[in-house]
Amino acid sequence: MKHYSESFNKRSRLIIAPELEGRRRGRLGSPDAATLRDRIVEALRVQQDSYPCFDWVFPPPVFPKTPGPGRADALFTYPSVVPGTYSIYMHIPFCKTLCSFCYYRVLPARGGDEKSTYVDYLVREMAMYRESLRGLRCESVYVGGGTPTTLDDAQLVRLFDAVRDNFDLERDAEVSIESAPDTLPRDKVALLKSLGVNRLSYGIQTLDEGLLATMNRYYTVDGAIKELEAALPLIGNINVDTIYGFENEPDDALFRTVTTFERLGVPCLTIYSLDTQRSVRKNVWLGPPRDSLFYRKIEIYHDVKDLLASLGYQALFQNTFAKPGLGSYRHQLRRWENVSLVALGVGSMGYAPPRKPYQNYGTTDAYFKHVDAGELPIEAIEALTPEMELARQVITELRFARVDLRGVREKYGVDVQVVFGDLLRVLGELGLLERQGDEILLSKAAAPYNNVLPMLFSPDSFKEDLLRLPEDYLAAMPIPLVVTGIGATQSAPLEMGPSASGAKDVDPAIAGGFYPDGSCPVMGDDRRA
Ligand SMILES: C[S@@+](CC[C@H](N)C(=O)[O-])C[C@H]1O[C@@H](n2cnc3c(N)ncnc32)[C@H](O)[C@@H]1O
Ligand code: SF4
Repeated sequence: MKHYSESFNKRSRLIIAPELEGRRRGRLGSPDAATLRDRIVEALRVQQDSYPCFDWVFPPPVFPKTPGPGRADALFTYPSVVPGTYSIYMHIPFCKTLCSFCYYRVLPARGGDEKSTYVDYLVREMAMYRESLRGLRCESVYVGGGTPTTLDDAQLVRLFDAVRDNFDLERDAEVSIESAPDTLPRDKVALLKSLGVNRLSYGIQTLDEGLLATMNRYYTVDGAIKELEAALPLIGNINVDTIYGFENEPDDALFRTVTTFERLGVPCLTIYSLDTQRSVRKNVWLGPPRDSLFYRKIEIYHDVKDLLASLGYQALFQNTFAKPGLGSYRHQLRRWENVSLVALGVGSMGYAPPRKPYQNYGTTDAYFKHVDAGELPIEAIEALTPEMELARQVITELRFARVDLRGVREKYGVDVQVVFGDLLRVLGELGLLERQGDEILLSKAAAPYNNVLPMLFSPDSFKEDLLRLPEDYLAAMPIPLVVTGIGATQSAPLEMGPSASGAKDVDPAIAGGFYPDGSCPVMGDDRRA
């Protein structure tokens, strides 16, 4: 089996400083607080090639994985970090057209029969989870895509009926669906509301007709606004996705777009920087090695962030802003807290306790084949150490939002300020990190490095592991190269342990090791066959 994946970050995410090259072989060396600042300053001469980028997950899929266990009872056996609750992500890959900018693998222009077949398989997959999740409560369902509202009414009814039949939804569960213009007539919104949908994410992308005309999306700006206006009073909690950073984009396009949405009463806005690096067609990487609009995008991002703040929006994540009390996005906020996540549909990613990220097969053929065989269609499952689970939360939260140091201490029994004390100090001195009470967040000056800096909070043992990867991998994937180039960043050993206040809540399997006996059933012989 291939032990590393080329899908970890973009090949050309960073322009590598040549001086870093020589450092990549060998061990990290002992932590050296005195030179940490110099090492970081030297490494940060590298530049990301797209900003901000949202495409990586931590930990990256670089280490060996095993095939999925096939049965849900072998997957969801242990309590979650937050016991008793879980979330669901369900993927609908269909779209009306393939938008010119889109980096997702979607199935455009498919007929009703193909969609009905897919829904059949989703319903069968849900049934496989039913028994093993009995007694637990589902706090969030996210139906993403693609464009799930390309399903017809009967298909949507079937899907949501199956969700309620198979899973025990909390009374106030967040139920979200993604949509795009020209797929959301008013009666479909009313249907979705009657099916329990209480959050909508609608991708209008731009209100500039000229830009829209280049996107291979066939509707008018007016048509999109009419759909949005009809949906707002029915659903309320609506997010609108927008994109900026096109070559032919008028200077004030995003400003005008955002201001109009605020005037229309949209409570949540997400602003994506156009990313051409991740677009892959027939396995050929597209786009220039360096984003020519890199600094312009940073400028637009910060200007619009200020505008959104002046309009009363608060940042939920790096690029998602909501009006307090009107817009929310619980699913994504919980996603990085290592809560159990059930993955449904092609390519979906899930998380099973303790510490097992997993992913479904990415093609419909493979997905159908496994469901037909009565097995969960899981292609690969990973087994994280307790330290890596902690790092997953800290690193991802630092990258996308902010880290609550006290919450981390209570949940994992680890004081980040002790383990990464020198790193926190140096990043603070360099103006790259801000502290607000018990929370830390990246500063505005950290913007060009938002890929690299959070990863410095990974365990040194992980960086040592990266160094053991094949040379061609490190040569092609500059982010780990830079992270390992900076070297050790821990000031103290990273020892997991129940905190005084959280001891009784921490599952021993999570606090103390892999499973209580040190084994991992998924990796073991019994569930591999
Ligand atoms: C899963 S997709 C879209 C949902 C829906 N189909 C739509 O078109 O709005 C989520 C969002 O990713 C963003 N996106 C897609 N391709 C992108 C790219 N190349 N660069 C930046 N953002 C992108 C778009 O803003 C899109 O709304
Ligand atoms: S942007 Fe949305 S509608 Fe367009 S191809 Fe991507 S997922 Fe489909």
